[in-house]
Amino acid sequence: MTANPVSVNSNPCLISPEIGKSALAPAHPPLKLGVLASGSGSNFEVIAQAIQNQQLNAEIPVLIYNNPEAKAAVRAEKYGIPSILLNHRDCKSREELDTKIVKTFQEYDVEWVVMAGWMRIVTKVLFDAFPDRVINIHPSLLPSFPGIRAVEQALAAKVKITGCTVHIARLEVDSGPILMQAAVPVLPEDTAETLHARIQVQEHKIMLGAIALIAESNRKYCD
Ligand code: GAR
Repeated sequence: MTANPVSVNSNPCLISPEIGKSALAPAHPPLKLGVLASGSGSNFEVIAQAIQNQQLNAEIPVLIYNNPEAKAAVRAEKYGIPSILLNHRDCKSREELDTKIVKTFQEYDVEWVVMAGWMRIVTKVLFDAFPDRVINIHPSLLPSFPGIRAVEQALAAKVKITGCTVHIARLEVDSGPILMQAAVPVLPEDTAETLHARIQVQEHKIMLGAIALIAESNRKYCD
């Protein structure tokens, strides 16, 4: 799986429609995705919707959220997806939270982990249980602007182009092999809110594209 070059245009997403189609091969069992979300859950919902529309050969056996206020849990209910609150405030360490996450995902036979707006730093505990099988979405063109407030960082740096990235996650925050990126121009009048809203439109496309790529490679290498 390699990164594609990025273009800036009205539809900068780089997903081939063929990828989505071939990932639908009915003879292959759906990829079981365990999703982690902390907030609104719009990326989670895009995946759930694509699965419901049979655009992705995948399923979400469980959503884990860490914040009792997370709207992601409400979205999960809409799709009949079980959601489990694992509140980081109830854990003494990051490792303790990750141990609970791993146990839950294993109970639900999760194969790949999708961090869809997961605002916690994850540890070796998660990576050891799902080696090379954890993906993350981040609202910048990594390696630029890793960490928190990526959109604000881009505005402060006065870049003309920013965007979003889906990558295989590694121990260092927001690092690891890039699966897909989309570029988003920064407009002179942009605030963090307006820019983030346009980035999210592209996030939803590359999130689906990256999962379709994974489903496709899973299909090829399991044949
Ligand atoms: C997304 O913009 C995602 O890139 C970002 O949180 C937002 C979640 O939105 N993630 C990070 O900043 C992680 N470093 P959503 O809850 O609507 O999917």
